[in-house]
Amino acid sequence: MSLLVVYDETGNFLWLEKDHQAISQKLRDMGVLFERWSIKPVKGQEDILSAYQDDIQRINETFHFISVDVASITPDHPKKEELRNMFLKEHTHSDFEVRFFIEGRGTFYLHLQDKVYAVVCEEGDLISVPAGTPHWFDMGKNPHFTAIRFFTIPEGWVANFTGSNISEVIPDHDSIVSSWLTS
Ligand SMILES: [Fe+2]
Repeated sequence: MSLLVVYDETGNFLWLEKDHQAISQKLRDMGVLFERWSIKPVKGQEDILSAYQDDIQRINETFHFISVDVASITPDHPKKEELRNMFLKEHTHSDFEVRFFIEGRGTFYLHLQDKVYAVVCEEGDLISVPAGTPHWFDMGKNPHFTAIRFFTIPEGWVANFTGSNISEVIPDHDSIVSSWLTS
């Protein structure tokens, strides 16, 4: 189940939303695209990209992306801690960050005005982080996900770190999952 958990900037819980349509509407109001796509039973980068060709083309036409790839990580990855830490500090990009989760889970934290919107994404979820939005991503201590990533220009996806330590005071992906999701 996808979740939206909202915190104040000191990590106090404010509210929780479990209904996908309600999450989508709330995020849309803030310029964040959050869609549910149907999942197709395919594995491997080539097969994934061809199975989702129509959806990918629609997104590419909307946002003018020029390339896509497939990122995948499992709990036995030797560099899982290093990879997790790469995205765990608050940062911005000069480009949209768009991910479509094919399997597994990960949490995007969007810092909008004086609140943090933690969006637990699972298979079937597409999320866009608008350019310039402070955010971070937590895949958890035992990461498991496969996601399609969309790109315009390679340098657009470079992380510009804000220097804020806010991600340390907001509950992490594993805490949210253990608090609100049973599996
Ligand atoms: Fe990012």
